[in-house]
Amino acid sequence: MEYQVVVLGGGPGGYACAIRCAQVGLRVALVEEREIGGVCLNWGCIPTKALYAATKLIEQARTAGEMGIDFGPPKLDLQRLTAWKAGVVKILVRGIETLLEKNGVDLLRTRGRLAGPGRIGLADGGRLTAERIVVATGSSPIEIPGFSFENPIVWSSDDALTLAEIPERLVVIGGGVIGLELATIYRRLGSAVTVLELLPEILSTIDLDRRAVSALKRSLHLREIDVHTATAASSVETGAGGSKVRTNDGAEIPADRVLLAVGRRPNTRDLGLETVGVQPDRRGHLPVDATQRTEAPNVYAIGDVAPGPMLAHKASAEGVALADSFAGGEMKPLDEASIPQAVFTDPEIASAGLSERRAKELGHQVLVGRFPYAALGKALGMREPEGFFQVVADALDHRLLGVQIVGAEASELVSEASIVIQGGLTLETIAGAVHAHPTLPEGLKEAAENALGRAIHVVNR
Ligand code: NAI
Repeated sequence: MEYQVVVLGGGPGGYACAIRCAQVGLRVALVEEREIGGVCLNWGCIPTKALYAATKLIEQARTAGEMGIDFGPPKLDLQRLTAWKAGVVKILVRGIETLLEKNGVDLLRTRGRLAGPGRIGLADGGRLTAERIVVATGSSPIEIPGFSFENPIVWSSDDALTLAEIPERLVVIGGGVIGLELATIYRRLGSAVTVLELLPEILSTIDLDRRAVSALKRSLHLREIDVHTATAASSVETGAGGSKVRTNDGAEIPADRVLLAVGRRPNTRDLGLETVGVQPDRRGHLPVDATQRTEAPNVYAIGDVAPGPMLAHKASAEGVALADSFAGGEMKPLDEASIPQAVFTDPEIASAGLSERRAKELGHQVLVGRFPYAALGKALGMREPEGFFQVVADALDHRLLGVQIVGAEASELVSEASIVIQGGLTLETIAGAVHAHPTLPEGLKEAAENALGRAIHVVNR
């Protein structure tokens, strides 16, 4: 079959790219060997957020006595919880399949492999030719020496999301995004959770100020999630007395299950890249230019296989922009720093743009404003007084450079600031806009006003 575009991989990068290619009138095929939606829909963002929401109920019910409403201990039916989560995933996957069909994308359910310039071989024996090939094959969890996913004690994030059991003691290796999100879910489900992080700080891949990370660490501590930083996990041993994780400082931590969440590696193996002369870099990424082109003509890479943050929304944005460029649109490179990121811990933490530290390193004179959740009527009524909003702006022109939010619904609240940052707008844009009362976004407005020295509900310093 002959196509103008063939996309390899049907995750949020690949399917969005294929749909937009079809929308702009290109003849396009999407090749996917597993489920449509990739890791995000099936084994990542969506199932974790379903479990995050479900387990938040447990947390809320446990402490509702403060408001005079008492519940008994939760009765967990893991089969029904798993079925509910799978139902959410299924609705979304079916939805994407329908969108692909209605937009006229040919969905080929098999494995694809490059077979020379403009050629793709399919595992089912088929062959395709394409004017342009988009590699969107995503990433997979990595292993480290001493820990193998072959060991039944060691879980990947996929294993953790199957909810086969709630371990009494869960040791999480890696204090990054996946480690902390799953630590939160399993703690709410009743596991005793210990997190081991190699580096001196958790969430070190995100540009966060110390104040935000410290606030999150305090909250994790309050919820009895035991976080050890500057601690490398070196091995897991199983004997008559159960399993133990050994660390570089000689500690032995008893574990019923070990979740290994030490990063992900781009899926670039066995893709036939050598047939077009593309070489992954040291970390497995395919080097691309600002328009997602690899070193091979007419071969592009988007999402986790391309460099940059491994985020579904970054992948989709790249896929859509690339498809538009195929139709003659100008492709503006994504400003990575302004891409928002949200981490679903208790409470949530979200950021976009630069931290105060990074802004100063880049030579900005900054104005910083903050506002606590505890001063927001809505937050108190929701029983969510933990956390704060922080805005960082350029002191000369007041352009908003960055935002960090630690607190309830931070993942939702970051969008307003992210639009302001991406649009090159100022503190006054947020401070001067009338926000509905009583709502959480008022915290962002007050933080912007605080940066300008004129917040109403906090003493300005
Ligand atoms: P990560 O890179 O965020 O964190 C892995 C952590 O493991 C690092 O802090 C690293 O220092 C630590 N580590 C490495 N070896 C270790 C050892 N021997 N002992 C202890 N700690 C060790 O990677 P993660 O959490 O696996 O996530 C992968 C990607 O998926 C990230 O890019 C992340 O942004 C993305 N993701 C994003 C989500 C979101 O935006 N909400 C949700 C889930 C994943």
